[in-house]
Amino acid sequence: MSFIDTLPKAELHVHLEGTLEPDEMFRLAARNGLVLPWESTEALRAEYSFTGLEHFLRLYFEGCKVLCRREDFYDLTAAYLRRAASQGVRRAEMFFGPQSFLERGIPAAEQLGGITDAIADASTDLGIDGALIITAQRHRTEAAALELLEAVRSFQDSILGVGLGSAEAGNPPSKFTRYFAAARAQGYRLTCHAGEEGPPAYIREALDLCHVERIDHGYTAAQDPDLVSRLADEAIPLTMCPLSNLRLQVTDDLTTYPIVDFMKAGVVVTVNSDDPPYFGGYLNENYTALEQQLGLGAEKLTTLARNSFLASFADQGQIDQAL
Ligand code: HPA
Ligand code: ZN
Repeated sequence: MSFIDTLPKAELHVHLEGTLEPDEMFRLAARNGLVLPWESTEALRAEYSFTGLEHFLRLYFEGCKVLCRREDFYDLTAAYLRRAASQGVRRAEMFFGPQSFLERGIPAAEQLGGITDAIADASTDLGIDGALIITAQRHRTEAAALELLEAVRSFQDSILGVGLGSAEAGNPPSKFTRYFAAARAQGYRLTCHAGEEGPPAYIREALDLCHVERIDHGYTAAQDPDLVSRLADEAIPLTMCPLSNLRLQVTDDLTTYPIVDFMKAGVVVTVNSDDPPYFGGYLNENYTALEQQLGLGAEKLTTLARNSFLASFADQGQIDQAL
């Protein structure tokens, strides 16, 4: 076991639908009587060469179609939590976007019931602490995002927070101010994808207009030193995803990845996997890529792992215990 394997970590930016492994996609398709547009897992994997976020999202939404029944959502979540626990992940705050499934007539109870059963079983069996963050899709309207909050309202006790994902360019956080205000009024923790492909101004909007507590990605903050200082001063964490940023051509090369600059500026940066099979690695592969490409040693890797607990939405007592 390597140093990274044994480090206790939290994962704060992983999309459950994006953890679907190709062989599992084929198994679920067969179980649900569906035919996939690819002949084999090899043919599917050959598609994992992305020009950018929207290209990836087309494949990601196609993969979502095999998730139909409560046991599919259970199996998906259970498999991710098993893999995460084996990598030293103690807490996982997982994104899930019900709109893909609600529009196909799959009730929220089937989706969230399967996920929360798997979280409960993994807590008992593996000791991993899982939590759910519901995301709205920003290519849809704000009215649809508000309907989503209503659709999941009766499951509120099982939901930790609310976020915003999908195609960023042209869909700024300012389009979703009422959604975030409603979520805040209902007691959810708030986070928002911003600064993946969008400009630093989108990160500012997420903070100033949507009042989110964390920024998912935040990569383009590197273009705006005043914003970096602000993230440090206000202790707004970034949930960065190095292999995702590499595979979606957000960054050309991890040797210039700005995570060390952010750490030096005092930002609480964290490492995460986003959509692991699509981007070539789970959490530890992301840490390892930074270790190798940026030459990070044990001290910086430990800081990143500690940051993941500091940035989590766990109770303070749980965070203190993890540290
Ligand atoms: N960005 C936005 N939406 C997403 C992502 C991402 O990296 N992954 C899954 N949905
Ligand atoms: Zn993401």
